[in-house]
Amino acid sequence: MHKAIVAAINKQIAMEFSAAHLYLAMAADLDADNLPGFSKWMKHQHTEEMSHGMRLFDYLLERGERVVLEGVKKPAPAYAGPMDTLKKSLAHERKVSASITALYELAVKHKDYPTQLHLQWFIDEQLEEEKTFEDLIARFKMAGEKGPGLLMIDRELGQRGGE
Ligand code: FEO
Repeated sequence: MHKAIVAAINKQIAMEFSAAHLYLAMAADLDADNLPGFSKWMKHQHTEEMSHGMRLFDYLLERGERVVLEGVKKPAPAYAGPMDTLKKSLAHERKVSASITALYELAVKHKDYPTQLHLQWFIDEQLEEEKTFEDLIARFKMAGEKGPGLLMIDRELGQRGGE
């Protein structure tokens, strides 16, 4: 594989694990804010992001390349309510999408077809994740950030898990 692609995938692995770390910090903060359902939902997001990182990790190993782990970014310990949490999540997902797109372009430039195929899954996944957060923001706007609406949506998120 081209060295630049290996380096970019290693960076992407760190970005996915950093996303996992961010969602875990958010899960802790939501639990502290008495939103156990939303907290559980965020724990599922954490698990998903770990699996994204591992998908790239295993891909590099499959191709006989070296995985070089970087440190994960330290997330903020607290957020200003569910809407702030969701907006920051969406902003983060958009950054991840841009990074995946840049990685794909690099694979095109170097005619690395297996990497392009592997990244296709991530392109679809990013579309889905952005839509999930956009929909949740719309729903929280409707339900309100306080009172019975918030309790209802929290209960529902707890049932849905991370799907
Ligand atoms: Fe794997 Fe949501 O970025």
